[in-house]
Amino acid sequence: MSEIIRLREFLDELIPSEDQLQRLYQNFCLQIRKGLGSKTNKEASTKCYLTYVQDFPTGNETGKYLALDLGGSKFRVLLIILKGDHDAEQISKTFELTETELLGSGPHLFDFIAKCLHEFVCENKLESENLPLGFTFSFPCIQTGLTKAILLRWTKGFNCSDTVGEDVGTMLKTAIARRSGLKIEVVAILNDTTGTQMSCAHRNPPCHIGLIIGTGCNACYTESVDNCERLEAKYKDKPKIIINVEWGAFGEKGGIDHVTTEYDRVIDKNSLNPGAQLYEKMVAGMYLGELVRLAMLRAVNENLVFSQCRLRKPITDILTKKPDCIATKVLSDIANDKGDDWPAVREVFKQVFNLNEPDPEDCKKFKYVCDVVVKRAGNMLGVTLAALVNKVGEHFTVIGVDGTVYRCHPNFDGYMRETLDKFVDQEYKYDIMLSEDGSGRGAALVAAVVHNDRMERSRGP
Ligand code: GLC
Repeated sequence: MSEIIRLREFLDELIPSEDQLQRLYQNFCLQIRKGLGSKTNKEASTKCYLTYVQDFPTGNETGKYLALDLGGSKFRVLLIILKGDHDAEQISKTFELTETELLGSGPHLFDFIAKCLHEFVCENKLESENLPLGFTFSFPCIQTGLTKAILLRWTKGFNCSDTVGEDVGTMLKTAIARRSGLKIEVVAILNDTTGTQMSCAHRNPPCHIGLIIGTGCNACYTESVDNCERLEAKYKDKPKIIINVEWGAFGEKGGIDHVTTEYDRVIDKNSLNPGAQLYEKMVAGMYLGELVRLAMLRAVNENLVFSQCRLRKPITDILTKKPDCIATKVLSDIANDKGDDWPAVREVFKQVFNLNEPDPEDCKKFKYVCDVVVKRAGNMLGVTLAALVNKVGEHFTVIGVDGTVYRCHPNFDGYMRETLDKFVDQEYKYDIMLSEDGSGRGAALVAAVVHNDRMERSRGP
């Protein structure tokens, strides 16, 4: 049997069958139903948080807004100018987050945010303007309105003390108030998925789903208020509301065990949050490179890769002792490789393993392992997305997407569509649209629609 076929067999558990995907679909739909119900929400893994975003952009929004974007590997401050006619301009500044911000105290993190905001406001001479601000805070929160969001847990690489159970809006306002001279009104707190949906809907109104496949992974969608048992009656005069599914947590109450492998269990065990965000750990950028490392390590130990390589022992040592030695970005670089002698794989082998003259067979195999891991993620995401397209139940649904994994990996879109096409009901059509900076523009749009709504209400009927 050729080695590549043996490798294919060895990786079989990372290749979900039709039947497994079908079960994934059913289990996910059940979790959504439970998440929406008031009595069943407690037992649901996907909590289906109410975002209180009930107004959608028309494209005519105008005005100047500030936005903060916290939730990925970097923090950003933005000034967005909505110009009407579906148009917008923006200036932004990115700030690196160090371990002190990611793993320090909450008050420190919020002071850091206020400091960056202050710097940005001064640099852009905005001190004298009283600007509304939208805060994209991409972690699971219970919202009781647009400006009140209680943090339930940190996800991805964050774990700050003294924040879980606190209102993020208050923490931000207090930190801003500690810096005199900032005249800012926090008008909305939102998730990055909501921002993505709003920014795509600004250009393309049938955008009913927002999706992020970056460091973390999550989706939101437009639901009828009638299906939201947990929504207070006073919000039911509007027909729709965006639901933040928080599907990263899918699996915490079962539902994905049948597709979970030993690699997934190791990733979970070594993570900052064992037992939590199990679906996210199979599909998001923070974990895909690590999945490849673990699969490669086992494949090397089984003599399926590097079997003839003189550096086999040091390579095994690196794979064993250096978690995160394979960055998720590498998976995209390799898939983007156009040359037929694997230049990107060679580069990774050189950088990570000090290996200069690899056997072409090993290059081919490494590329294959990367592909299997990415395809599994894309295929599974297509299934859960299809469930949302069917749940939205519109003839045509645009899925707005953002996130580095989706943007940079040339095959991700195709892998997602493969299963979307199988699982979306025939009566519905869908399309996928890349968001233009969902987190920033989306935050400004939420701020704008809230502002317009308030103006309308104050004018009366
Ligand atoms: C994590 C967060 C979620 C966010 C996603 C993408 O899953 O919990 O709120 O939307 O990452 O950034």
